[in-house]
Amino acid sequence: MSTAQEVPTYPALVQELADRGLLTGRWRQVFDAVPRSGFVPADVWRQLPDRCEPVVGTDDWLALVNSDEPVVTQLDDGAEGGPGIATSSNSMPSMVARMLELLEVQDSQQVLEIGTGTGYVSALLCERLGDDLVHSVELDPVVARQAAEALAQAGYRPHLRVGDGEQPWPGLGPVDRLIATCALRHIPYALLRQVRPGGIVVAPLAREFWSGALVQLHVQDDGTATGPFRGGATYMPMRAHRLPDLHDVRGKGRARAAGLDPARLLDLGFALYAGARLPGVRLIHQDTDNGVQVWATREDGAAATAAGGEEVWQYGPGFLWEEIEQAWWEYETEGRPDADRFGLTVTDRGQHVWLRDPHEVIRPGRP
Ligand SMILES: C[S@@+](CC[C@H](N)C(=O)[O-])C[C@H]1O[C@@H](n2cnc3c(N)ncnc32)[C@H](O)[C@@H]1O
Repeated sequence: MSTAQEVPTYPALVQELADRGLLTGRWRQVFDAVPRSGFVPADVWRQLPDRCEPVVGTDDWLALVNSDEPVVTQLDDGAEGGPGIATSSNSMPSMVARMLELLEVQDSQQVLEIGTGTGYVSALLCERLGDDLVHSVELDPVVARQAAEALAQAGYRPHLRVGDGEQPWPGLGPVDRLIATCALRHIPYALLRQVRPGGIVVAPLAREFWSGALVQLHVQDDGTATGPFRGGATYMPMRAHRLPDLHDVRGKGRARAAGLDPARLLDLGFALYAGARLPGVRLIHQDTDNGVQVWATREDGAAATAAGGEEVWQYGPGFLWEEIEQAWWEYETEGRPDADRFGLTVTDRGQHVWLRDPHEVIRPGRP
């Protein structure tokens, strides 16, 4: 049985984040002033690789809340008897710290957050900037009400709205900073219009080629935005940006000899490269006793699966595994650039990934 001394504390968590260099400038004081526990309800779940597990008992609750782990606060959009998929959470504190750092807020700047969730990030922003400069929008009315209550209880009164954060906030002029705390498949151009030229957007981008990554965009005078990827990030997607993991597969399987070890595909730099070269290809992976196994699919029914040292199986039109291997060799030829050498540009015509320089756009290959 655990004793009170063994239960982690919030000050120890903040110290750990500071020791990792994640709380620079005023953020250390801000985190110290806003205990996470004030924003976590009694009924929560721990996110495991394949499911969410209910947290039982005060010690277990405190251990999770005061650890650098996400705390799942809603399953299945609040519906009873669903498959148990996390749909709202209090995000991992180190990820929150990274995102707030990337936001580069200055005193007197106005911030818009998309995805109020538990209200914790809003509270940190209020503590840093003052209530009146913080706006936050949440789609789920039940989640939004709980957040408003937790914020008021903690003494914060930011501007809150229940609605779709993909749409501009009616009447809100261009803000200085925008932070999305739900993952976006693409950055809606309408959102950029909500941010002033010179402003910054920080968002987790959900990529179809297994990866998720933070992007830090600088809004330009012409209303477009560009900036680098800033490391991996796995967030629950914005509701309208949810996608099935894989497409339907067509046709009988065809085997071929093992080639590239699928474990090599799990490099964020390669994922960003391949995602741009092979748009629409979805790839997921799983650790098995024999190493990494991957499945890849495309809308036209093409598919491939590979596991370390075993035959590769391909399905449907074309040879999807060969296309992935081809992208890998190109990436090798580029010198296997790290993820932070890639960036994103968003315009009114869509978004594209670049390598090293915004002019070096990675063009899609043809299947
Ligand atoms: C990871 S949680 C946000 C965590 C939150 N920032 C906090 O401090 O606890 C993601 C939230 O985004 C919300 N969300 C999803 N789609 C949305 C949308 N279109 N507009 C606004 N919020 C949305 C979800 O309901 C969920 O509560």
